[in-house]
Amino acid sequence: MKHTPETVVLVNCGCNDIQTIARAVRAEHIYTMVMPYTVTVDRVAAESPRAVVFCADAPAADRVARFDALNAPRLVSVDPAEIVRFCREKGGCTGSWRMDAFIDEAVEDIRRQVGSGKVVLGLSGGVDSSVVAALIHRAIGDNLTCVFVNHGLLRKNEPEMVQEVFQRNFKMNLVYVDASDRFLDKLAGVDDPERKRKIIGKEFIDVFAETARKIDAPFLGQGTIYPDILESIPLDGNPAGVIKSHHNVGGLPKDLQFKLVEPVDRLFKNEVREVGKLLGLPAEMLDRHPFPGPSLGVRHVGAIRRETLAILREADAIVTEELLRTGWYAKTWQTFAIFVPVKTVGMKDGHRTYDHVIAIRSINTVDAVTAEVVRLPWELLFTMADRIVREVPGVNRVVYDITQKPPGTIEWE
Ligand code: XMP
Repeated sequence: MKHTPETVVLVNCGCNDIQTIARAVRAEHIYTMVMPYTVTVDRVAAESPRAVVFCADAPAADRVARFDALNAPRLVSVDPAEIVRFCREKGGCTGSWRMDAFIDEAVEDIRRQVGSGKVVLGLSGGVDSSVVAALIHRAIGDNLTCVFVNHGLLRKNEPEMVQEVFQRNFKMNLVYVDASDRFLDKLAGVDDPERKRKIIGKEFIDVFAETARKIDAPFLGQGTIYPDILESIPLDGNPAGVIKSHHNVGGLPKDLQFKLVEPVDRLFKNEVREVGKLLGLPAEMLDRHPFPGPSLGVRHVGAIRRETLAILREADAIVTEELLRTGWYAKTWQTFAIFVPVKTVGMKDGHRTYDHVIAIRSINTVDAVTAEVVRLPWELLFTMADRIVREVPGVNRVVYDITQKPPGTIEWE
């Protein structure tokens, strides 16, 4: 079991936003671990906590009494400032939770766990897998092999960008698998969103497993982060309290039998970013908008054709370029283009056109569970629309999606 010095255990006795409290205390360099109130006293004691804090929105005395046996200062609170003060004054916490120290510990942990064994890691180019790649690489160098699968649904220049960043910064063993044709052939003619998602998911696992098998590594690196774990255990002991199941390698074939290496499984997203920065990952990689696993596949409504996928890719690149140029990229959670398989009448250079529609969606959210439409400046939207209809053949109309979530989802499929 990994152990972090100066651990503070937060026992969730019925607190709606325990993750926010845990993050706020960590921001003061005090490491917090969240446990459900059904946890055993021994399990808490095993962490040798500096302090134990019971977090409850309503009085929960009865849930606290059985922890009297614990040999650590105890507090009932949902106020991060009060918790921090208590941890410093009564728990003697000095503020040792720092990402540079974390990196040293994590590197040692990885070396201890894998020894001279090989690790294989699926690299998506997203923040979590990129940081895990950099961390494992620092620990074991060439014994790490990253597998980057191009499923043909990536954004413009994405395969080149991901490879370039990792080769330039880390000189990593990186296996690039261009499986575009395989995916796009399987997707041909499929217009049902769920079937599309299933095909992409299954094919991805197959391609990754085939490649991983050739590498013959006993270990599989994973970008599991702390919220994945928190959201998959019922914090109040009630299974109905599970927010979402932690999927990690659930889909991998049993005969692959890897041991997992999950070096950032104690970190919140902001901490993962900080580690990435300290490890030298460029900002353009760390500050990227979240991008769904099925990628452009769920932003291309209906059956995917290579020609219409190319239209979406170009339109999406223009949207991103304009966001970056105006500074709006950093001000939104996700902003992207959607291909709408509808043709409408328009005109260009005095001629009638009959071409496709591109939609633009821009949202802000805290947790992606609900989301608010961003009021992007009209000037910016006009520029995007103008560039798209002029520069992307096959598009003659651009619309802006102003649907909140709920009832709309963020992605269109
Ligand atoms: P929705 O469309 O459900 O999206 O409102 C919520 C957030 O999740 C992302 N998303 C996904 N991420 N695999 C992922 O890794 C997926 O299949 C997937 N579907 C949606 C979406 O981009 C948004 O941030």
